[in-house]
Amino acid sequence: MSNSFIKTGVIGHPIAHSKSPLIHSYWLDLYGFNGSYETIDIKTENLKQDVLNLVNNGYSGFNVTVPHKIAMMDLCDEIDDLAKTIGAVNTVTIKDGKLYGTNTDAFGFIQNIKDTVQRENWDWSFEKGKALVLGSGGAANAIIYALIKEGVPAITITNRTREKAEELQKIAPDKISVVEWSERNNACKDVQLIVNTTALGMSGKPPLEIDISQAPNTALVNDIVYAPLYTDLLKQAKARNLKVVKGIGMLLHQARPGFEKWNGKMPEVTKELEEIVLK
Ligand code: ATR
Repeated sequence: MSNSFIKTGVIGHPIAHSKSPLIHSYWLDLYGFNGSYETIDIKTENLKQDVLNLVNNGYSGFNVTVPHKIAMMDLCDEIDDLAKTIGAVNTVTIKDGKLYGTNTDAFGFIQNIKDTVQRENWDWSFEKGKALVLGSGGAANAIIYALIKEGVPAITITNRTREKAEELQKIAPDKISVVEWSERNNACKDVQLIVNTTALGMSGKPPLEIDISQAPNTALVNDIVYAPLYTDLLKQAKARNLKVVKGIGMLLHQARPGFEKWNGKMPEVTKELEEIVLK
């Protein structure tokens, strides 16, 4: 147990509804660490000055959420290759007055799937087959990069705006193909992984209209949306007895590297933590 008080938090605007304080407070309690993690509301026009204030007030680091993930790239003294590749910073560590930025979304996405596969004892791995990625926003960028790194042999991207999918295809042109959004049902045919990276299907957003009935029986289906916990996509997958990985796990796992950097302990994702965050 450390004697010094570790101050951390999450910056964004709006920020009141962030789940991150629940996650980090749970871990601080669980491991008996002396520290705090709070929401810090920072408007875009104050970003530079308010971040400087955090440094001057002795913060050890912070998470970054909407709308600052891209702007934060320029405010860091150093950003690692992962954040550079993804083009966004979501985790900052402060050391000797300097800001070090990284991005943990890819880690969160991969660990969520790996953790579930291991827990459920499924015969499934990233290298085994093709992936279908729905969407081409910021989340898709991190996820496609992560899938390539994990050795997925081929990826099909489909997005309403085809040009954005073609932009992401440049991550690995020899492995990635793009199909029209209208072809998404057929694109399920020979894949081992289907991932929704759009916000479609989230409470308050339009539904994700897709029919995954052509997916093989061995496929794993993941949605990054976690409210509702079981989206229509995941319900469809469950009804077909496919492997289902919930989106909530990505949120929990992406928080782990920041906690480790600031407090010196890689925290675990537990069932209890999931229940706390979903309450
Ligand atoms: P994030 O950074 O969280 O991924 P984003 O950059 O706004 O968010 O990306 C949202 C994704 O959802 C995009 O792929 C978007 O498609 P477009 O690139 O065509 O905008 C997709 N999306 C949002 N609303 C959609 C809709 N009604 N139908 C189909 N796709 C939609």
